[in-house]
Amino acid sequence: MRVLSGIQPTGNLHLGNYLGAIRNWVRMQDEMDADSQCFFFLADMHSITVHENREQRIRNVRDMAAALVAAGIDPDRSVLFNQARVPAHAELCWLLSGTARIGWLNRMTQFKDKAGKDREGASVGLFVYPVLQAADILVYNATHVPVGEDQKQHLELARDIATKFNTDFGVDLFTVPDPTIPKESARIMSLRDGTAKMSKSDPSDMSRINLTDDDDAIMQKVRKAKTDPEPLPDTAIGLAGRPEANNLVGIYATLAGTTPDAVCAEFAGKGFGAFKPALGELLVEAMRPMRTRFMELRTDDAALDAILEKGAAKASAAAEPTLRAAYDAMGLMR
Ligand code: TYM
Repeated sequence: MRVLSGIQPTGNLHLGNYLGAIRNWVRMQDEMDADSQCFFFLADMHSITVHENREQRIRNVRDMAAALVAAGIDPDRSVLFNQARVPAHAELCWLLSGTARIGWLNRMTQFKDKAGKDREGASVGLFVYPVLQAADILVYNATHVPVGEDQKQHLELARDIATKFNTDFGVDLFTVPDPTIPKESARIMSLRDGTAKMSKSDPSDMSRINLTDDDDAIMQKVRKAKTDPEPLPDTAIGLAGRPEANNLVGIYATLAGTTPDAVCAEFAGKGFGAFKPALGELLVEAMRPMRTRFMELRTDDAALDAILEKGAAKASAAAEPTLRAAYDAMGLMR
């Protein structure tokens, strides 16, 4: 088994990233057997699609590295690196751009969402983004890619590119990867709007729980989270058509390691005035140790850089044979 996943180092790690993806990364790392390997990286090359100044980008990469280690990624057991230190990703992206079709990219909902109305004004990078993501995955022949629900379409594209490349060049080079998407927390929604996903780019900080939020901020965000006036139902079926209630119960269930049905049974008939403090406590207990560790780690840039450099050397060595075989399959002499 080869596990690979990435996160954009733009802004803070939030609860959606943690429950949707990173918790699964840590679980897969911890359950890894001797024949398996885990690769986790900071998608800084993808982050060029968001304008940032040099200093901010450098800080963001180091902070996200600290956040992942704080969340439980162990750089001695997993290969942890930033994409820009491993040029094989960008090289394979170019090779795969001959295989990916414009029609496929035109269907990507993330591009449509991020480009907004001004399609002509969007960067080429934003459009080609999913091809680089395919290269990230295929260059390591990853078998399992733990992500949240929003990345499913990009994963399907990576599968299509792998299959078409193998067929077009008559090789059995790329492994067709499987997404690993959690059942309960695949899509954590905004605390202000149960129909929008929790996201780094939401202008309202009240919409998300950040790794850097202190205990009071977490309690306040939960207290102010949007809800409806109905009490909690006795089973999860009663959450249908109540997106905010559904989201909060889902977060509670994930953190408590139980099901939405069990949470409803526990709080049946009670209002959010009773439920929210319990959810706040759970969140505070889950986030506090991570935040403390993160704050320590981010004070030592040299140590973080050393982790990423070491990871990049291992990643480059793992990527090189596949990259070489791709050039060769295409008749590109080096
Ligand atoms: P990114 O940085 O937006 O998010 C990182 C991971 O967090 C998950 N996630 C969520 N899960 C549940 N609920 C949410 N509200 C939520 N918000 C984010 C994402 O699904 C993701 O797993 N394109 C990717 C980064 C990437 C990548 C890759 C991932 C680049 N190359 C190769 C996997 C494999 C992205 O922007 O994720």
